[in-house]
Amino acid sequence: MPTFFSYPNLELQEELKRTAEAIVAPGKGILAVDENNEGIGKLLAGVDLENTEENRRRYRQMLFTSDEMLSNNISAVILFEETLYQKTDDGILFMDLLRKKNIIPGVKVDKDVVPLHLTEEYTTQGLDNLAERCAAYKKLGCRFAKWRCPLKIGERSPSVQAIEDASHVLARYASICQSEGLVPIVEPDVLLDGNHDIVRSQKVTEVVLASVYKALSDHHVFLEGTLLKPNMVTPGQQCVKRSTPEEIASATVTALLRTVPVAVPGITFLSGGLSEEDATLNLNAINQISKAPWRLTFSYGRALQASVWKSWAGKDENIGKAQKELLQRAQANGLASLGKYVTACISSAGDMSNYRENHIY
Ligand code: 13P
Repeated sequence: MPTFFSYPNLELQEELKRTAEAIVAPGKGILAVDENNEGIGKLLAGVDLENTEENRRRYRQMLFTSDEMLSNNISAVILFEETLYQKTDDGILFMDLLRKKNIIPGVKVDKDVVPLHLTEEYTTQGLDNLAERCAAYKKLGCRFAKWRCPLKIGERSPSVQAIEDASHVLARYASICQSEGLVPIVEPDVLLDGNHDIVRSQKVTEVVLASVYKALSDHHVFLEGTLLKPNMVTPGQQCVKRSTPEEIASATVTALLRTVPVAVPGITFLSGGLSEEDATLNLNAINQISKAPWRLTFSYGRALQASVWKSWAGKDENIGKAQKELLQRAQANGLASLGKYVTACISSAGDMSNYRENHIY
């Protein structure tokens, strides 16, 4: 590997590091609302609403106009590009509203997956024009970005090609983000789909993370200015042998300790289809294992919003109730990120599995 590269200038290093550290401040995590239009369309259909820009805006307005207390546990929000330009009913840009609440806005910059030709695996697209897009998002006020590469466990997958492709793509994305002043959230997502047990899940996660960090190093990514967004190590959704939160925590922390450099400031887990309550209990158990050198917190989409969707049901009169659900889940996960979650909070969709085969974000 070439050894004649430059580090980012000191000012940029400081800025990236400060942003990454602020996102994983103690007791805080990320609210992921970056569902693409197809993904949110399915959720809107579930509450009998048409998939229009106005209905997408109305739903997200409800989230962002929640009580100020939300920012006690939500440090950052991942947005879908369309949302960057949307406003409240009173004409305030969502971006400005979030910043006023001390919540850092970021954006999903990948353009979803396409098949790897002649295989059943995928690659994530979106590198074309990424630098220009990142520069524009930075100008609008975004301070970080997210890119997801899903990998499916099967009898012969993930293949070496799929792992190497995901690692390379994530490294290119991360280095482009940093060149434009955005903190890259690096998301290799080993999916919940499958009947594999927790041991297989741990092995795949370790191989994938080792490969991703080799690629980030080869591409001179400044690790102190990045965050990792991985799956937790769990048995596959269809595996009959279930694991306790303590077993999941132990396998997850072991996999991370073996592969993730200490220079990375924080790890923000995805929820991947776990129920709200399981996602919280697992995070809590993970944080009760004290030896981790990074902050370990949440970057949940479904596990922060399932109860919100259920309570809202597409009706204005339910907005207050739905906002309370969001606050409750944010507080529960804030406590779990400190290993201090004790009482199960009663959320309307708390125990409901959020797993859907081939889920679309
Ligand atoms: P889930 O928590 O629903 O898996 O979403 C994670 C994600 O990547 C969205 O940004």
